[in-house]
Amino acid sequence: MNNDKQIAGFSKLSKTEKIHWLAQNFLYNNPINVAKEFASYWHDSIEEQKIFDGFSENTITNFFLPFGVAPNFKINNKLYAVPMVTEESSVVAAAANAAKFWFDRGGFKAEVISTLKIGQVHFNYKGSFEKLKTFFPTLKSDLILGARDITANMDKRGGGIVDIELIDLSDQLEHYYQLRCSFETCDSMGANFINSVLERFGQLLVELVQENDIFNYHEKDIKIIMCILSNYTPDCLVHAEVSCAIDMLGEIEGMPAEEFATKFVQAVKIAKIDPYRAATHNKGIMNGIDSVVLATGNDFRAIEACVHTYACKSGNYSSLSDASIENGVFKFWMTLPLALGTVGGLTALHPLAKKSLELLGKPSAEELMKITAVVGLAQNFAAVKSLTTTGIQQGHMKMHLSNILMSLQATEEELENAKEYFNGKVISFGAARDYLNNLRKKAVS
Ligand code: MEV
Repeated sequence: MNNDKQIAGFSKLSKTEKIHWLAQNFLYNNPINVAKEFASYWHDSIEEQKIFDGFSENTITNFFLPFGVAPNFKINNKLYAVPMVTEESSVVAAAANAAKFWFDRGGFKAEVISTLKIGQVHFNYKGSFEKLKTFFPTLKSDLILGARDITANMDKRGGGIVDIELIDLSDQLEHYYQLRCSFETCDSMGANFINSVLERFGQLLVELVQENDIFNYHEKDIKIIMCILSNYTPDCLVHAEVSCAIDMLGEIEGMPAEEFATKFVQAVKIAKIDPYRAATHNKGIMNGIDSVVLATGNDFRAIEACVHTYACKSGNYSSLSDASIENGVFKFWMTLPLALGTVGGLTALHPLAKKSLELLGKPSAEELMKITAVVGLAQNFAAVKSLTTTGIQQGHMKMHLSNILMSLQATEEELENAKEYFNGKVISFGAARDYLNNLRKKAVS
């Protein structure tokens, strides 16, 4: 590899040529095997493969992740088998356990509180804010009118532009203002719709100010910095909860219900006040949420960005979930923003995202918000339940044992023997490796 020379036209190479170039320049130890390995993950059908290639750029193969299902989710008395895509062992098992646990205790309740999405036109304006404010009512209706061709379809579906606010932030950044716009996007996540409308608003804002004689020469020199949706959607909220009388919780891993409930509530309170714990606590919630978001072809980076911003809304990063004991009732709940879609984007294009939505009964975006929030809550319940009783490693390492053994090329028989041997014992990579080495030594002697 010549380190001084960049490759030109990499994107124009065929998939095989790209792999060949990588093998020649970076993976040269075994170029023939490299090519075979990448190719072994291609889809059998050329047509299907083209769909996957189309999602991104410079694709050379597919990256597989497990697609699992957590059954027995009772949500508002409706039963779901929830698709989950994750690479982390124990996540799906934990969600399934929590679903089963709450199935017998009335199931989960979920409710969508609001569905507003936000977008912003960020601009510089060097004139009098009073003039801009006076002009704003006219501007607002002209902006809405001027974007009619883009919003017509969404309007018909019951969505569209909900409001536009003029915000003065010039005390924090010189000459900086924004139009903060809110939208309803029905069953779509709406990113493309919102961004198209915002770009039109930006263009119109400049034109309308320039055409209006209340503004002087300098004031007419309005400059658009950028037009983009915000992934922070604090008014696209869903609430999920479970509750039951404490004694209905039963004995948990040998712990009396009362003691468990008290410890559980204490654990959630710790995540409320301590950001170090809150980050891990919320990560546990996102284990469940991201898995459903990925399985249904939604944008997990957008969801992550939003949820963690929301977790800071008080000024301190804090737990997304809450728990209480009142009058002998244990209650565990969470309200969080989830801007999800069930039409558009990848939801119809990715064959397995489409299947996931079919598995969920082709839900509306609101229904998917509820399902996803419930899985997040279930995941959090399962994690905190383990943490406050057996500890997390017992279950986690039991699930992870197969991964360790597979990485050591264990056979089916070795795998079975190891599972039996490690039952009730502490599992680690070293212990599994030593066990396997001994087993193999014994087999040759
Ligand atoms: C691991 O992926 C997630 C947990 O750490 C969450 C938690 O600590 O609550 C188990």
